[in-house]
Parts: sequence; structure tokens; C-alpha cells
Amino acid sequence: MRALICRNWGDIGTLELGEMPVPEPGPDQVLLDIVATSANYADAIMVAGKYQTKPEFPFAPGLEGAGLVVKLGKGVENLKIGDRVMAKLAHGGFAEQAVAEASETWSLFDRMSFADGAAFAVAYLSAHVALRWQGRLEAGETLLVLGAAGGSGMAAVEIGKTMGARVIGAASSEKKLQAVLQHGADHAVNYSSGNLKDQVLELTRGEGVDVCFDPVGGDLFDSALSSLGWGGRHIHYGFVGGVPRVPANRLLVKHRSAVGSSLRYFQNFRPDLLVQSMAELAAAYDKGAFNPVISHRLPLERGVEALRLLTERKAVGKVVVEVAPKKEINQ
Ligand SMILES: NC(=O)c1ccc[n+]([C@@H]2O[C@H](COP(=O)([O-])OP(=O)(O)OC[C@H]3O[C@@H](n4cnc5c(N)ncnc54)[C@H](OP(=O)(O)O)[C@@H]3O)[C@@H](O)[C@H]2O)c1
Repeated sequence: MRALICRNWGDIGTLELGEMPVPEPGPDQVLLDIVATSANYADAIMVAGKYQTKPEFPFAPGLEGAGLVVKLGKGVENLKIGDRVMAKLAHGGFAEQAVAEASETWSLFDRMSFADGAAFAVAYLSAHVALRWQGRLEAGETLLVLGAAGGSGMAAVEIGKTMGARVIGAASSEKKLQAVLQHGADHAVNYSSGNLKDQVLELTRGEGVDVCFDPVGGDLFDSALSSLGWGGRHIHYGFVGGVPRVPANRLLVKHRSAVGSSLRYFQNFRPDLLVQSMAELAAAYDKGAFNPVISHRLPLERGVEALRLLTERKAVGKVVVEVAPKKEINQ
């Protein structure tokens, strides 16, 4: 099968298009024909050898995909051959075929295209877990989303709105702010041209926000923490800007909390809540609440370029890689 192959830890530029053997599904796994996958920032971290998991060489990156079930491993009962599905993957989405856990493979929702499915599972499920179970976001609260025009950020904006929150999206350029507003944010603030805390406090009459969804960290964290009001919850979701240190004294005085959220680890401990998250996402999708933003669609041969769009901050929403676009049209 054709795949974008990682043979050594390094820059995404070292990935090569080539041939790999088709993987074999083990017990409770399925083999998928991948129609579309999408780029995640974590792919670049994995290829650099700095991700939480390190696959054996050679491997294809790609943490999610949408396509057709073509083979069932022993014990799989929730899926059948020919099912149109989306899946969260350990890796391997940038390839014509990939193995997925049956428990992390879901039927595409009604009217969902393969491209939308490829852009959905990781961003929406991770953001839902973060906001619903870790941030405990409630209707009527105010949510601040950093990196709001990114893949996870856009999902958090839409999910925040479906949960009844007032949403402030924060991003680095006017173009990104416009996209965030078009996708439902109530307000948008630019953290490149102005101070994040000052803008958020102005929008909240000095009270601050209840929850901050933070896929960025780094230097932005200090200002984000000061934007949290009484009892506010800061969700550490990702560290594209670097891993910040949490000053405990600034949690104490305003009864704030800093919580982590990781889809990968959450599913090990609370698979029941993950099932509930997917059910809530499906219901909201059915009502038309979600419209995954896809700024670029590229073929597999341009997979490196797809990842580069993320590392160079040029994407808005998701970048989809069309692995077998003819199947998209025929299905
Ligand atoms: N915890 C979980 O369950 C989970 C799940 C999925 C992803 N993640 C993590 O969340 C983070 C974001 O992932 P993603 O796939 O949503 O990424 P993405 O689509 O590339 O979005 C990241 C956003 O961060 C902002 N950013 C700020 N500083 C940046 C920098 N130095 N380099 C790149 N972007 C920067 C960019 O917006 P501006 O240009 O507007 O600042 C960009 O839109 C990653 O660390 C990823 O590993 C965590």
C-alpha cells in the first residue's frame, strides 16, 4: 500500500511517500481502507520522536481517518465489512490502509462525508472530553478558547456554543478571528496585536472567564491564567507554544484550578464517558450544530505540506488529506 513513511525521528520534511505492507488487524481491531485522513499537530510531534507514544520504524503518521471497514479482527461485533466509518488511530492514517481499535471506530453520522469524518474524531472528541468532563463547562458560563482557529480550537468553539456557553475565541490574526466569529464565537480577540488578559477582562466587565481551553500554553499561559475569574478552570490541552509552569499562588486566591485533559489517556480510565461524549456529539451533529472547518484538502503525495500548514500556523480549522478521493465520490 502507498503510505507517507517515517523511518527516523526528525522533521516532517524527512517523511517519504513509498510502499509499506498492509497491516493485519489483531483481536478487537479492524482494517480500514482510508478515504481521507487529517493532519494533527501531534503528527509532527510524533515524527520528531517527542510524542507520548513512539511507534516502531517504519510507520506512517496519522492519528485519525475515515473510510471503509475491509477486514475484521477476532471478536469484533460492533462493525461489519463495508461500514462507512471514522476512527481514531494510534498512527497510520497517512496510508491507503490502517488498523483501528473497534472501540475507537464509529459509523459516520448521517450525511457526513469522509472528509468531514476525517476532520472530526480527534478534534471534536478531545475538545468535548476537555470541556464537558475536565472543564465542567456549564450553560451560561463564559469560555475562552486559545488557538481558536486551529483544528481543536474550532471544535471547542462549536462545542462550547452547543453547551450554552458564551464563547470568546482568541487567535493570532484578523483572518483567523473572522473565521472564529463565522463559526459561532460571540467575541474574538487577537493575542498577537493586543494583551489577552486586558481584552478578556474588558469583554467580561472585569470578572474574567469561567473556563479556558488551552491548546497553546507557552508564553500565553500567564495572561490566560489572569483572564480566569473566581472558580475558573484552566484546561491544559496542548503545548504548541511550550509547556508552562503553573504558579500555585495564583490558583489559590481566586479558587481557580488547572486541569489536564488528554483523549488518549482519558479513554483508558473512563471509556464509559467517552461513549457518552460521542453520543452527545452525534446528537448535536444531527441537529446541524457542527460544521467542521477544512481550510485545505491535499492528496497523499502532499502530506508533508499538509503537516507544514499546521506547524507554520497557516491552517484554519482542519487540513484534510484525501487518500482515495474517488471512493468519496462513489460512496
Ligand atoms: N489533549 C488532547 O486530548 C489533545 C487532542 C488533540 C490535540 N491535542 C494537542 O493540542 C494542540 C493543538 O493541536 P491541533 O491539532 O488542534 O493544532 P492546530 O490545528 O495546528 O492548532 C493549533 C493552534 O495553535 C496556535 N499556535 C500558537 N502558537 C503556535 C505555534 N508556536 N505553532 C503552531 N501553532 C501555534 C495556532 O493559532 P494562532 O496562529 O492563531 O495562534 C493554531 O491555530 C497540540 O499540542 C496537540 O498535540 C491535544
